[in-house]
Amino acid sequence: MPKTLPTYRIAPSLLSADFARLGDELKAVIAGGADWIHFDVMDNHYVPNLTFGPMICQALKPHAKRADGTAVPIDVHLMVQPVDSLAAAFADAGADLISFHPEASSHVHRSVQAIKARGCKAGLVFNPATPLDVLDWTIDDIDLILIMSVNPGFGGQSFIDSALRKIEQARKRIEASGRDIRLEVDGGIKIDNIARVAAAGADTFVAGSAIFGKPDYKAVIDAMRAELKG
Ligand code: DX5
Ligand code: ZN
Repeated sequence: MPKTLPTYRIAPSLLSADFARLGDELKAVIAGGADWIHFDVMDNHYVPNLTFGPMICQALKPHAKRADGTAVPIDVHLMVQPVDSLAAAFADAGADLISFHPEASSHVHRSVQAIKARGCKAGLVFNPATPLDVLDWTIDDIDLILIMSVNPGFGGQSFIDSALRKIEQARKRIEASGRDIRLEVDGGIKIDNIARVAAAGADTFVAGSAIFGKPDYKAVIDAMRAELKG
């Protein structure tokens, strides 16, 4: 657990939305209480699946707002290689946070700086078998750490338990850095495991199939928040 009580964020992943009604799905999940919108970008090269590009992000951006007009941050998770050209395109398309996998960039520090130079927050993503070592040299520069609790590429997979140990390690590194860094977890998050993941130290939760797989998005998000309070 972090030293101070975190403000939890729930980030529904549009990967599990109905792509034929993407704008309506975005509005429905925001009405249901989404804190961030998680946008999974896959290139059929770094991961074995292909999703959506910057033009779709740009089209959705004006609709990523709550009833009171406040913006809902778009949290872009790049599963692409190379990183830099698409990161720039997503910054131009209205992304608020852009995260990438360090294995997919030849120059991780440069990619982080390029994202920040475009006014976005920058994050690093760690696959289930990837150690956190790159944080030794990057933690002072990033805004977000994203721990994968499934192998990237598909929604609806089961949570990999070893991610809990990695979340604990990442939380220790964040505490030691003294910096304000979000610790996000992605893959297999459900109502019945979110409290365990929070107890390990996570403060931001991606959920795709758990939310879009049910008819009432608000009911799922409310139930997740209730678990986090408990
Ligand atoms: C997987 C994606 C996830 C995915 C999570 O590569 O990064 O964001 O949408 O889906 P669920 O919540 O269904 O495991
Ligand atoms: Zn993701």
